[in-house]
Amino acid sequence: MNELKVGIVGSKFAGMLHAESYKRCPDVTIHAVAAIDNLDQFAASYAIPKKYDDFREMFAREELDLVSVCVPNFLHKEIVVAAADAGIGGIICEKPFATTIEDGKEMLEVCGKKQIHLMYAEDWIFAPALIRAKEICREGGIGDILYVKAKETHNGSHSMYAQKKEYCGGGAMIHLGIHPVGFLPWLLDQGVSAVVAMKTGGEEKNLLHKNYGGEDWAAALIEMDGGTRALVEGNYITCGGMDDKVEIYGTEGNIHVDLTMGSPLTVYSRKGIQYAIEKADFTHGWTRPAVDEFLSLGYVGEIAHFVNCIKTGQVSQPGTRGADGLNALQTVLAIYQSAESGCCVEHNEIFSDL
Ligand SMILES: NC(=O)c1ccc[n+]([C@@H]2O[C@H](COP(=O)([O-])OP(=O)(O)OC[C@H]3O[C@@H](n4cnc5c(N)ncnc54)[C@H](O)[C@@H]3O)[C@@H](O)[C@H]2O)c1
Repeated sequence: MNELKVGIVGSKFAGMLHAESYKRCPDVTIHAVAAIDNLDQFAASYAIPKKYDDFREMFAREELDLVSVCVPNFLHKEIVVAAADAGIGGIICEKPFATTIEDGKEMLEVCGKKQIHLMYAEDWIFAPALIRAKEICREGGIGDILYVKAKETHNGSHSMYAQKKEYCGGGAMIHLGIHPVGFLPWLLDQGVSAVVAMKTGGEEKNLLHKNYGGEDWAAALIEMDGGTRALVEGNYITCGGMDDKVEIYGTEGNIHVDLTMGSPLTVYSRKGIQYAIEKADFTHGWTRPAVDEFLSLGYVGEIAHFVNCIKTGQVSQPGTRGADGLNALQTVLAIYQSAESGCCVEHNEIFSDL
């Protein structure tokens, strides 16, 4: 396979993350985009020749090797299944994999039967700093891993779909906390065995965002099946830009990773600069502007890996297979169940049939 023909469904934030990363892949053409708004602007920005307001029409008319599903969560199943039915050999699904276990299972079943390569876009797994942290853990540099703290937090979603529970299936945990949740099994080579969690209750029961249907704060303590403990957090109450941090504690040392605030650049600007980091609302005064967020947050490595998998026929790496996406969703739903019941939830308690 020489030139890979890609289609993107979704033309806004996640679509842009994928398009920016495809741009850096040799022998890849973004051939078509489907979305219900922002089509002309998106197609012009990335010189995409074909645009559709109906993804089914795009799948029927264009011969695509790979499709990126970059639409609101509740549409992931419908679009993955339609792409599989159209015979597109490679499908990348954004996080969360789906909003229900039933949808996630159906996606796996349909793609499995048709031997379609369904990949799960967990970008943290490709963040260079986290890859290096894992290497240090693997060489035994900090001994046995006892405890991991990991979070993604910011001041609220840009997407109206992410603010309505019926479109997204939850709040800050399913959107932001799902990154550390998906990252832990990859880092530790351990599965989740139990969770105990708390969250805010949505709308009036939120700390800050009374207009969000889902929670604006959630945290969970996790026991991994190899014995490591973890604390994961997702919240929409953090000012000052997206704050992604990981701390790893071992018997012989610690690792601290600052994925978003740790830029080597320090800038003081009286009038402000165009951009500092994701979700930062002010850029005047002192800032630490990101050098290349597409790279440092893992999107570039992620898309390059998925493209390579389609070119070579290899299965995508652990943490990024469709089943890993479903697994991360299971953990998030277990976190929600624990937060609502006030009880510890064994991971196989509610998903024992999988
Ligand atoms: N990996 C990450 O870091 C990351 C970051 C942001 C978003 N996401 C995920 O990406 C997905 C999209 O989020 P977003 O922030 O881009 O949302 P957004 O609101 O910015 O954009 C939604 C896009 O979906 C399109 N869309 C909506 N309904 C459609 C339909 N029926 N057919 C075709 N297109 C349709 C819209 O036209 C729009 O382009 C979500 O699942 C989100 O969780 C992932």
